[in-house]
Amino acid sequence: MCGIVAYIGSREAYPIILKGLKRLEYRGYDSSGVALLNSGLKVYKKKGKVADLEETLIGKDMHANVGIGHTRWATHGEPSDCNAHPHMSQNGKLAMIHNGIIENYAQLKTELIKKGYEFKSDTDTEVLLNFIENILQNNNCPLEEAVRIALKRIVGAYVIVLIDQDNPDTLIAARKGSPLVIGIGKGEHFLASDASPIIEYTKEVVYVNDYEVAIIKSDELILKNLGNERQTPYITKLDMELAAIEKGGYEHFMLKEIFEQPTTIFDCLRGRLDAHAGTITMKGIDEYAEELKNANRIVIVACGTSWHAGLVAEYIFEELCRVNVEVEYASEFRYRNPVINKGDVIIAISQSGETADTLVAIENAKEKGAIILGVVNVVGSSIARTSHGGAYTHAGPEIGVASTKAFTAQLAILVMIALKVGFEKGTIEEKRYRQLLIDLEAIPQKVEVVLKDHEKIKALAEKYMDAPDFLYLGRGYNFPVALEGALKLKEISYIHAEGYPAAEMKHGPIALVDEKLPVVFIATKDVYHQKVLSNMQEIKARKGKVIAVITEGDTHTPTITNDLMIIPETDEILAPMLSVIHLQLLAYYIGIAKGCDVDKPRNLAKSVTVE
Ligand code: M6R
Repeated sequence: MCGIVAYIGSREAYPIILKGLKRLEYRGYDSSGVALLNSGLKVYKKKGKVADLEETLIGKDMHANVGIGHTRWATHGEPSDCNAHPHMSQNGKLAMIHNGIIENYAQLKTELIKKGYEFKSDTDTEVLLNFIENILQNNNCPLEEAVRIALKRIVGAYVIVLIDQDNPDTLIAARKGSPLVIGIGKGEHFLASDASPIIEYTKEVVYVNDYEVAIIKSDELILKNLGNERQTPYITKLDMELAAIEKGGYEHFMLKEIFEQPTTIFDCLRGRLDAHAGTITMKGIDEYAEELKNANRIVIVACGTSWHAGLVAEYIFEELCRVNVEVEYASEFRYRNPVINKGDVIIAISQSGETADTLVAIENAKEKGAIILGVVNVVGSSIARTSHGGAYTHAGPEIGVASTKAFTAQLAILVMIALKVGFEKGTIEEKRYRQLLIDLEAIPQKVEVVLKDHEKIKALAEKYMDAPDFLYLGRGYNFPVALEGALKLKEISYIHAEGYPAAEMKHGPIALVDEKLPVVFIATKDVYHQKVLSNMQEIKARKGKVIAVITEGDTHTPTITNDLMIIPETDEILAPMLSVIHLQLLAYYIGIAKGCDVDKPRNLAKSVTVE
């Protein structure tokens, strides 16, 4: 949450920062701002999206070779001009941007007020900044030293970047818990929350670690820990192309990302799955094959859509590997003092690799001796680096706030892990194993077939767009898909939607059913199919509108339903990768029909780096 960008070098800083903020806007869009250092320190900020800021700055002299910028997802203080970042210190000499939460800010604020400080905003950021300024003044030390002293007293998470009017050739940055990438150019440096603002200038980056302070000049990058000891910057080469973060002719990132899924699933399987040879090769998993095979328990921790992928995996692991699996909301798991036993394996699932709750959950479990495997999309992200092993999903940058292609790629990885472990354990028969490899290899093509129905789904969306509520129902592997369908609809169209196990419907939600309620059944061919049909009849008997995702060739279900979405035939384990596509499209087209900003839904941010 919140995106930060900064530049120091010989180019014009403002256009680089502005473009960077637009790329990071998925992280928060309540307000944005820039601070530029030329002959003096100037700060410009505005409530609303980056485009609103840009408009107010047209015609202004924005010349500067050093600057910082921020796009905000509000935590402390409502979205407003004065709560927008950058903030200026009381003496007007320092400006700072921040991503994270300073938990003990109230105590620090009280101390500073006693010392005569006045605050212009409600933010924790302004408190930290003035705390640093106060240390600077009292200790007469360099800014980096003041930052180190201040951070030792901070409880919470942060990436901060400061510019100092008295030291215009230096940026000071620090991180704990929130992400910071530094791009290394020739005589210039770029700082950002992720690599997307940096990629067109340089592919050489340094991922700053927790508790590191960076002292950045045009031609020098020094990293130190909070004990003032030099750390060696580890330079990584970015494996990402600019085209991957642009819309490529699509109206929205969400639509582009839905349509990318044949390719992203293929990329995820490529080089790993060889159906012909009957092998699955995943280096970061192979190294922990024994631990997985012998695990007493697999605990999956994740949030949101990634948690739904974890639920599908629970069913798959239990069936194919005959192992006990628990799927935990990371936010609950981290505070529950969970019992972690020797032999437990934790799988963390995360698109961004930066979700604060998931990150802390695995840090805690790691301390207790668990093996941590990450299923992560963003290369080099905090969760990936904290995990012992794991596998990247290779879905490419996901910019739309609603997660789509990351989900199907997560499922592809989790199926591969389960197949691998199950086969090695002997809990899956070779015939089924080999058939599943063939079926999995065919999924990208089948996703293409599903996507061909997009016009039909659009028509369906227009038919049901005015419904105030939706119910999504499924059993077995399709239950998590129902949850995911409901989440997609809620976040994109603001229509209230709930997902339930189809049988659970009778224990309460059926009271909602009337002739106005659309009920989306994920009713693809599986062992529960007959039972799901009975549930459909129960809805129909109460005049609910039945929309169903079914498998091609099913001639009976259409006799019950009002509307249909059809997927090609596949194994029930793999069907979620197909049925979810229809639900993503349905949410997208309903959102569009209702005039919603589908890429940036209200109140949301792509990467939830605060707990
Ligand atoms: O980056 P992560 O996968 O860890 O993010 C988890 C959730 O924040 C995320 O899936 C969120 O629920 C999305 N908005 C869902 O579309």
